[in-house]
Amino acid sequence: MCYNIAVLLSGNGSNLKAIIDKGIKVSFVASNNPKALGLKIAKNENIPIYSCNNISDLEEEVLKLIIKYDVKLLVLAGYMKLLSKYFVKSLPLKFIVNIHPSLLPKYKGMNAIKQALEDCAQYTGVTIHYVDEGMDSGSIIKQEIIKINEIDTLETLKHRLQLIEHRLYSDTIKSILIRNLQN
Ligand code: GRF
Repeated sequence: MCYNIAVLLSGNGSNLKAIIDKGIKVSFVASNNPKALGLKIAKNENIPIYSCNNISDLEEEVLKLIIKYDVKLLVLAGYMKLLSKYFVKSLPLKFIVNIHPSLLPKYKGMNAIKQALEDCAQYTGVTIHYVDEGMDSGSIIKQEIIKINEIDTLETLKHRLQLIEHRLYSDTIKSILIRNLQN
């Protein structure tokens, strides 16, 4: 896949790993959390990394790196901060994608899996969406639904959802890149 993506993350980076394993070229990985495990994954793969816990400095650098590496798609993979309006407006429409562990518009924001369990929801799922200036509010690209079992705990449900995420995110990113390549 010759189109470059960049990944923004704050934590474990299991989605980053799944994306790399699918053969998608990652130009750089940036984080607001210098201790994010996802940065170590990137480093082990010889992918350039950048971290800074000052959000406006981080955003400024990411905008520069996007130009430097000719990035075609910015992928949020567990990035736990809301992007500034300035940052979002600086990039083309449909340039940033995110993955969220619920069937948006239900259970936006933090602790989406816990919210579903506490709500005694029968179903939940995974949503991949474009990022706009709001919180988990951009247009939906893809969703996959699962039934919440009575025996599900936060841990088991998170695990079941992550298995879906790892397949669905990389497949969807590939489809977007191929579609963009054809246009
Ligand atoms: C995922 O559950 C994703 O839906 C949410 O943050 C989590 C990131 O997990 N946005 P990981 O860091 O990729 O393991």
